[in-house]
Amino acid sequence: MINETLDVITRRRSVRAYTDQPIAQTEKDSILQATLRAPTAGNMMLYSIIEVEDQTLKDRLAVSCDNQPFIAKAPLVLLFAADYQRWVDIFTHDHAPERARELDQQPRLPQEGDLMLAVCDTLIAAQTAVIAAESLGIGSCYIGDILEHYELHREIFGLPKYVLPISLLCFGYPKPGLLKKKLVPRFNQEFIVHQNTYHQLDASELEQMVQPINEYKQERYVPNANNLGQSIYLRKFISEFSVEMSRSVREMIRSWSTPE
Ligand SMILES: Cc1cc2nc3c(=O)[nH]c(=O)nc-3n(C[C@H](O)[C@H](O)[C@H](O)COP(=O)(O)O)c2cc1C
Repeated sequence: MINETLDVITRRRSVRAYTDQPIAQTEKDSILQATLRAPTAGNMMLYSIIEVEDQTLKDRLAVSCDNQPFIAKAPLVLLFAADYQRWVDIFTHDHAPERARELDQQPRLPQEGDLMLAVCDTLIAAQTAVIAAESLGIGSCYIGDILEHYELHREIFGLPKYVLPISLLCFGYPKPGLLKKKLVPRFNQEFIVHQNTYHQLDASELEQMVQPINEYKQERYVPNANNLGQSIYLRKFISEFSVEMSRSVREMIRSWSTPE
């Protein structure tokens, strides 16, 4: 089955090379208005979006996000941050903890569950922006490396305690020719979607599952890797940036869940 919406979703690909055409304010507004309509836990909108307009700042992010120069060339860069600070401030403003105490209930600060929910809200909003942009012919790419160097990114963006950088999104009109390339294959539905209970894949299922990716990717394995697992493990899983990402995220969680 196909319709206009499914077509936009299924033709989307990550776009990392952009024409010089700027994104007009009307289009930016359309993307942002659609984004704000994303579902959000309790209608609390537990996220903030920071537009990175300053070229110097884009240049710094291109380095701090694992040296990805295309970030500096993206006409529109948006930081999606998990944000409980807004609600902590509303709670304080509305004397909510005092009211809880009057009612013999225990006040508390944001904890791990609140963080997870805010991260859910943030990514649902980000993906809504991606699809809205795609529907306007504007390509996008997530930058997961914004999870690294928390201390630096907190300082760069002036983030308070309960605001954490979760994803950076680059947007721009795709360079000609990009859209003619084949889409990156995915694992087949049968290996991803389970019925009623979880099904852990056995060796033959694992081999079957990676086959389409192998066919597409084999020539791009890192040196010394003999298969997909080894390639991903060596290039990503144990790489320096992954180790830094885990350190940085550990610090984010510590900072969020430690009362001052
Ligand atoms: C959470 C997340 C983080 C990502 N981080 C990066 C990144 O730092 N740099 C990059 O070039 N692509 C990044 N991507 C894009 C993926 O590499 C891309 O989605 C994947 O290879 C599949 O390709 P496709 O989006 O074209 O289908 C990220 C995607 C997601 C969802």
